Amino acid sequence: MDIVIVPTAADVATHAADVVADRIAEKPGTVLGVATGSSPVGIYRELALRRAEGSLDLAHLTCFALDEYVGLPPQHPRSYAAYLGREVVRPFGLAPEQVRVPDASRADLGGAAEEYERAIAAAGGIDLQILGIGTNGHIGFNEPISSLSSRTRVAALSAQTRADNARFFDRPDDVPTHCLTQGLGTILEARQVLLVAQGERKAAAVAAAVEGPVAARCPASVLQFHPRTTLVLDEAAASGLTIGDGHSPVPDQGDGRGPDGSAPAS
Ligand code: F6R
Repeated sequence: MDIVIVPTAADVATHAADVVADRIAEKPGTVLGVATGSSPVGIYRELALRRAEGSLDLAHLTCFALDEYVGLPPQHPRSYAAYLGREVVRPFGLAPEQVRVPDASRADLGGAAEEYERAIAAAGGIDLQILGIGTNGHIGFNEPISSLSSRTRVAALSAQTRADNARFFDRPDDVPTHCLTQGLGTILEARQVLLVAQGERKAAAVAAAVEGPVAARCPASVLQFHPRTTLVLDEAAASGLTIGDGHSPVPDQGDGRGPDGSAPAS
């Protein structure tokens, strides 16, 4: 994992937008996995700004949402389809068909989940997946004890996640109880992962994801297995990390050799 720690949430947005823009420069038809919630909003606004200024062309993107609430129709303002309409489709200048969202309004949710996996595969897989992290370590809505190899499926939201997301709804009871979410196995297949976190309330989850054991207790820890993951954190979100600049957890052998006795790198 690459860990980038920047001073503020605004810096997280700028740095993460740079990562996305670099990817799009390499491949204009990038397949972008788009998280919702508050964490990525600054990235989307920064990308939209660069597009408006003429320095970034987003026209060839295909986007796939991470998840959608079960029980909210797409036109409901709190659905993730509506969120992506506001934050991605219109500001990026995309056609609605360029941004896919799991169809959580279908009676056959299992079929909708399978169809979503097929759509991702048909698009050639996700090039860059943007993620936030829940205070309990979830990514997507893969809550603690999700299978580390899970695929897109119906999942229940934990009590903690429903309480965290109550801020988006009029009443806590209005927060849906279930969602369709990409699985951890699905997320791991993205070629590149970019996770952003801001604020102290994410510090414990970030520390568990980065420094803890890979365990279903902290679903984001599965990213330790991903070959190309970058975390962009503000200082508050990084405040629980103990292994960082200026800290040398591996004792020096005194002769330039590594801890296993290997010769120094030339
Ligand atoms: C959103 C998602 C979630 C959020 C997480 C953090 O599509 O899948 O994993 O990224 O709950 O939410 P915020 O960013 O609102 O703190």
